[in-house]
Amino acid sequence: MSTNWKSNVIRSFDSKSSIYDQNCKIQKDIAHNLAADLPDKDISDILEIGCGTGNLTQYLLYLYKNKNFCITDISPNMLKYAKEKFPDKNIYWKIFDGENPDISQKYDLIVANMAFQWFENMEGSLLKLSSMLNSGGSLFYTIPSKNSFNEWKETLKSLDLPNGILEFQEPSSIYKQEEMLVNYVNAFDFLHSIKDIGAGLPRKNYTPLTPKQIKQACDKFDKDYAGNITWHILYGRIDKK
Ligand SMILES: C[S@@+](CC[C@H](N)C(=O)[O-])C[C@H]1O[C@@H](n2cnc3c(N)ncnc32)[C@H](O)[C@@H]1O
Repeated sequence: MSTNWKSNVIRSFDSKSSIYDQNCKIQKDIAHNLAADLPDKDISDILEIGCGTGNLTQYLLYLYKNKNFCITDISPNMLKYAKEKFPDKNIYWKIFDGENPDISQKYDLIVANMAFQWFENMEGSLLKLSSMLNSGGSLFYTIPSKNSFNEWKETLKSLDLPNGILEFQEPSSIYKQEEMLVNYVNAFDFLHSIKDIGAGLPRKNYTPLTPKQIKQACDKFDKDYAGNITWHILYGRIDKK
Protein backbone atom coordinates (compact mmCIF):
# COMPACT_ATOMS: atom_id res chain seq x y z
CA MET A 1 0.00 0.00 0.00
CA SER A 2 1.64 3.32 -0.92
CA THR A 3 1.58 5.95 1.83
CA ASN A 4 2.26 8.66 -0.73
CA TRP A 5 -0.84 7.83 -2.76
CA LYS A 6 -3.05 7.76 0.35
CA SER A 7 -1.72 11.08 1.65
CA ASN A 8 -2.23 12.66 -1.77
CA VAL A 9 -5.84 11.39 -1.83
CA ILE A 10 -6.45 12.78 1.66
CA ARG A 11 -4.87 16.14 0.79
CA SER A 12 -6.87 16.41 -2.41
CA PHE A 13 -10.27 15.73 -0.79
CA ASP A 14 -9.45 17.68 2.39
CA SER A 15 -8.64 20.77 0.34
CA LYS A 16 -12.01 20.82 -1.49
CA SER A 17 -14.34 19.72 1.30
CA SER A 18 -15.68 23.25 1.83
CA ILE A 19 -16.81 23.57 -1.82
CA TYR A 20 -17.71 19.90 -2.46
CA ASP A 21 -21.44 20.44 -1.98
CA GLN A 22 -21.65 23.14 -4.66
CA ASN A 23 -19.96 20.88 -7.22
CA CYS A 24 -21.22 17.33 -6.65
CA LYS A 25 -24.44 17.17 -8.67
CA ILE A 26 -23.41 13.91 -10.41
CA GLN A 27 -22.40 12.22 -7.13
CA LYS A 28 -25.74 13.34 -5.66
CA ASP A 29 -27.70 11.84 -8.58
CA ILE A 30 -25.76 8.56 -8.34
CA ALA A 31 -26.31 8.40 -4.55
CA HIS A 32 -30.04 8.81 -5.23
CA ASN A 33 -29.99 5.95 -7.78
CA LEU A 34 -27.95 3.67 -5.51
CA ALA A 35 -30.25 4.33 -2.55
CA ALA A 36 -33.21 3.12 -4.63
CA ASP A 37 -31.50 -0.30 -4.94
CA LEU A 38 -30.69 -0.77 -1.24
CA PRO A 39 -32.47 -3.62 0.55
CA ASP A 40 -35.43 -2.91 2.83
CA LYS A 41 -35.02 -6.11 4.82
CA ASP A 42 -34.11 -6.21 8.49
CA ILE A 43 -30.79 -4.47 8.91
CA SER A 44 -29.19 -3.22 12.09
CA ASP A 45 -25.48 -2.52 11.50
CA ILE A 46 -24.44 -0.31 8.59
CA LEU A 47 -20.98 0.80 7.44
CA GLU A 48 -20.52 3.59 4.89
CA ILE A 49 -17.11 4.06 3.29
CA GLY A 50 -16.03 7.36 1.70
CA CYS A 51 -19.10 9.30 2.87
CA GLY A 52 -17.78 12.66 1.61
CA THR A 53 -20.15 15.34 2.85
CA GLY A 54 -23.05 12.90 3.20
CA ASN A 55 -24.82 12.52 -0.17
CA LEU A 56 -25.55 8.84 0.44
CA THR A 57 -25.58 9.17 4.24
CA GLN A 58 -28.81 11.19 4.11
CA TYR A 59 -30.58 8.33 2.31
CA LEU A 60 -29.19 5.74 4.75
CA LEU A 61 -30.51 7.71 7.72
CA TYR A 62 -33.91 7.99 6.05
CA LEU A 63 -34.12 4.33 4.95
CA TYR A 64 -32.80 2.72 8.12
CA LYS A 65 -34.24 4.66 11.03
CA ASN A 66 -32.66 4.17 14.47
CA LYS A 67 -30.10 1.63 13.29
CA ASN A 68 -26.38 1.48 14.13
CA PHE A 69 -24.35 3.56 11.71
CA CYS A 70 -20.61 3.68 11.28
CA ILE A 71 -20.01 6.49 8.76
CA THR A 72 -16.43 6.87 7.55
CA ASP A 73 -14.08 8.67 5.20
CA ILE A 74 -10.33 8.76 4.76
CA SER A 75 -10.48 12.60 4.58
CA PRO A 76 -10.89 14.21 8.03
CA ASN A 77 -12.31 17.41 6.51
CA MET A 78 -14.95 15.59 4.47
CA LEU A 79 -15.99 13.69 7.58
CA LYS A 80 -16.19 16.93 9.57
CA TYR A 81 -18.61 18.48 7.02
CA ALA A 82 -20.78 15.35 6.99
CA LYS A 83 -20.83 15.27 10.79
CA GLU A 84 -22.00 18.90 10.98
CA LYS A 85 -24.97 18.09 8.72
CA PHE A 86 -26.32 15.27 10.84
CA PRO A 87 -25.64 16.47 14.39
CA ASP A 88 -28.55 14.83 16.24
CA LYS A 89 -28.22 11.36 14.81
CA ASN A 90 -26.76 8.50 16.68
CA ILE A 91 -23.80 7.86 14.38
CA TYR A 92 -20.31 6.61 15.04
CA TRP A 93 -18.06 8.81 12.85
CA LYS A 94 -14.65 7.46 11.95
CA ILE A 95 -11.64 8.49 9.87
CA PHE A 96 -10.97 5.26 8.06
CA ASP A 97 -9.20 3.83 5.02
CA GLY A 98 -11.71 1.49 3.38
CA GLU A 99 -8.84 -0.57 1.98
CA ASN A 100 -7.52 -1.36 5.44
CA PRO A 101 -10.59 -2.23 7.50
CA ASP A 102 -10.70 -4.02 10.83
CA ILE A 103 -12.12 -7.29 9.52
CA SER A 104 -13.25 -8.40 12.96
CA GLN A 105 -16.14 -5.86 12.74
CA LYS A 106 -19.30 -7.24 11.09
CA TYR A 107 -22.14 -5.42 9.31
CA ASP A 108 -25.47 -6.21 7.64
CA LEU A 109 -24.91 -3.56 5.00
CA ILE A 110 -21.72 -1.95 3.67
CA VAL A 111 -22.12 0.89 1.15
CA ALA A 112 -19.94 3.30 -0.79
CA ASN A 113 -20.91 5.88 -3.40
CA MET A 114 -18.17 6.87 -5.87
CA ALA A 115 -15.29 6.14 -3.49
CA PHE A 116 -13.73 2.75 -4.36
CA GLN A 117 -12.11 4.13 -7.54
CA TRP A 118 -9.51 5.62 -5.19
CA PHE A 119 -8.52 2.19 -3.92
CA GLU A 120 -5.17 0.84 -5.08
CA ASN A 121 -6.31 -2.79 -5.01
CA MET A 122 -10.04 -2.85 -5.64
CA GLU A 123 -10.66 -6.62 -5.96
CA GLY A 124 -8.54 -7.36 -2.86
CA SER A 125 -10.35 -4.68 -0.88
CA LEU A 126 -13.78 -5.91 -2.01
CA LEU A 127 -12.81 -9.37 -0.79
CA LYS A 128 -11.79 -7.99 2.62
CA LEU A 129 -14.94 -5.88 2.91
CA SER A 130 -17.25 -8.73 1.91
CA SER A 131 -15.67 -10.86 4.66
CA MET A 132 -17.05 -8.24 7.09
CA LEU A 133 -20.66 -8.96 6.13
CA ASN A 134 -22.94 -10.85 8.47
CA SER A 135 -24.69 -13.81 6.96
CA GLY A 136 -27.48 -12.48 4.67
CA GLY A 137 -25.70 -9.09 4.46
CA SER A 138 -24.82 -7.10 1.34
CA LEU A 139 -22.18 -4.72 0.03
CA PHE A 140 -23.39 -2.08 -2.47
CA TYR A 141 -21.15 0.40 -4.28
CA THR A 142 -20.83 2.64 -7.32
CA ILE A 143 -17.71 3.55 -9.29
CA PRO A 144 -16.94 5.20 -12.63
CA SER A 145 -16.05 2.69 -15.38
CA LYS A 146 -13.08 2.93 -17.71
CA ASN A 147 -15.48 4.24 -20.38
CA SER A 148 -16.05 7.40 -18.36
CA PHE A 149 -14.79 10.66 -19.91
CA ASN A 150 -14.00 8.98 -23.26
CA GLU A 151 -14.56 12.29 -25.08
CA TRP A 152 -11.72 13.94 -23.13
CA LYS A 153 -9.47 10.86 -23.43
CA GLU A 154 -10.06 10.72 -27.23
CA THR A 155 -9.19 14.39 -27.52
CA LEU A 156 -5.85 13.86 -25.73
CA LYS A 157 -5.12 10.73 -27.76
CA SER A 158 -5.74 12.50 -31.05
CA LEU A 159 -3.15 15.12 -30.02
CA ASP A 160 -0.71 12.47 -28.78
CA LEU A 161 -0.91 13.89 -25.24
CA PRO A 162 -0.87 11.85 -22.01
CA ASN A 163 -4.06 11.33 -20.06
CA GLY A 164 -4.03 11.96 -16.30
CA ILE A 165 -7.46 10.54 -15.51
CA LEU A 166 -7.37 7.66 -13.00
CA GLU A 167 -7.13 4.17 -14.48
CA PHE A 168 -10.55 2.97 -13.39
CA GLN A 169 -10.61 -0.70 -12.41
CA GLU A 170 -13.62 -2.89 -13.20
CA PRO A 171 -14.47 -5.51 -10.59
CA SER A 172 -16.54 -8.59 -11.34
CA SER A 173 -19.48 -7.85 -9.00
CA ILE A 174 -21.32 -5.39 -11.28
CA TYR A 175 -25.14 -5.71 -11.49
CA LYS A 176 -26.04 -2.52 -13.40
CA GLN A 177 -24.46 0.16 -15.58
CA GLU A 178 -25.57 3.65 -16.43
CA GLU A 179 -24.43 6.33 -18.87
CA MET A 180 -24.88 9.95 -17.85
CA LEU A 181 -24.20 12.54 -20.53
CA VAL A 182 -23.29 15.86 -18.92
CA ASN A 183 -23.09 19.12 -20.81
CA TYR A 184 -20.34 21.32 -19.39
CA VAL A 185 -19.83 24.91 -20.51
CA ASN A 186 -16.50 23.83 -22.04
CA ALA A 187 -13.42 21.67 -21.34
CA PHE A 188 -12.15 24.11 -18.73
CA ASP A 189 -15.45 23.86 -16.87
CA PHE A 190 -15.25 20.03 -16.96
CA LEU A 191 -11.66 19.97 -15.65
CA HIS A 192 -12.53 22.44 -12.89
CA SER A 193 -15.62 20.51 -11.86
CA ILE A 194 -13.42 17.44 -11.29
CA LYS A 195 -10.88 19.46 -9.31
CA ASP A 196 -13.58 21.18 -7.26
CA ILE A 197 -14.80 17.90 -5.76
CA GLY A 198 -11.24 16.98 -4.75
CA ALA A 199 -10.90 14.41 -7.54
CA GLY A 200 -8.22 16.27 -9.49
CA LEU A 201 -5.40 14.01 -8.34
CA PRO A 202 -3.95 12.46 -11.52
CA ARG A 203 -3.03 8.79 -11.99
CA LYS A 204 0.40 7.68 -10.75
CA ASN A 205 3.45 8.54 -12.87
CA TYR A 206 1.59 11.15 -14.91
CA THR A 207 3.59 14.06 -16.32
CA PRO A 208 1.33 17.14 -16.23
CA LEU A 209 0.53 18.93 -19.48
CA THR A 210 2.10 22.33 -20.10
CA PRO A 211 -0.30 25.34 -20.21
CA LYS A 212 0.11 25.35 -24.01
CA GLN A 213 -0.85 21.67 -24.28
CA ILE A 214 -3.86 22.17 -21.99
CA LYS A 215 -5.08 25.03 -24.18
CA GLN A 216 -4.59 22.95 -27.33
CA ALA A 217 -6.57 20.05 -25.81
CA CYS A 218 -9.33 22.31 -24.48
CA ASP A 219 -9.74 24.05 -27.84
CA LYS A 220 -9.98 20.72 -29.69
CA PHE A 221 -12.41 19.24 -27.16
CA ASP A 222 -14.67 22.32 -27.35
CA LYS A 223 -14.70 22.12 -31.14
CA ASP A 224 -15.34 18.34 -31.31
CA TYR A 225 -17.62 17.74 -28.32
CA ALA A 226 -19.06 21.15 -27.34
CA GLY A 227 -18.73 20.42 -23.61
CA ASN A 228 -20.42 16.98 -23.70
CA ILE A 229 -18.81 14.35 -21.46
CA THR A 230 -20.10 10.88 -20.57
CA TRP A 231 -19.92 9.55 -17.02
CA HIS A 232 -20.27 5.78 -17.26
CA ILE A 233 -21.22 4.39 -13.86
CA LEU A 234 -20.99 0.83 -12.56
CA TYR A 235 -23.23 -0.39 -9.73
CA GLY A 236 -21.72 -3.28 -7.76
CA ARG A 237 -23.21 -5.71 -5.27
CA ILE A 238 -21.88 -8.61 -3.21
CA ASP A 239 -24.25 -10.73 -1.11
CA LYS A 240 -23.14 -12.98 1.73
CA LYS A 241 -25.12 -16.24 2.01
C1 LIG B 1 -16.10 11.53 -5.05
S1 LIG B 1 -16.14 11.54 -3.31
C2 LIG B 1 -17.71 10.77 -2.99
C3 LIG B 1 -18.25 11.19 -1.65
C4 LIG B 1 -19.66 10.73 -1.30
N1 LIG B 1 -19.74 9.30 -1.18
C5 LIG B 1 -20.70 11.24 -2.25
O1 LIG B 1 -21.53 10.44 -2.67
O2 LIG B 1 -20.72 12.44 -2.56
C6 LIG B 1 -15.00 10.25 -2.86
C7 LIG B 1 -14.79 10.13 -1.36
O3 LIG B 1 -14.05 8.92 -1.10
C8 LIG B 1 -13.12 9.19 -0.07
N2 LIG B 1 -12.03 8.19 -0.16
C9 LIG B 1 -11.05 8.09 -1.07
N3 LIG B 1 -10.26 7.05 -0.81
C10 LIG B 1 -10.75 6.46 0.30
C11 LIG B 1 -10.36 5.32 1.08
N4 LIG B 1 -9.28 4.59 0.77
N5 LIG B 1 -11.10 5.00 2.17
C12 LIG B 1 -12.18 5.74 2.51
N6 LIG B 1 -12.60 6.83 1.82
C13 LIG B 1 -11.90 7.18 0.72
C14 LIG B 1 -12.68 10.63 -0.33
O4 LIG B 1 -12.08 11.23 0.79
C15 LIG B 1 -13.99 11.27 -0.75
O5 LIG B 1 -14.68 11.81 0.35
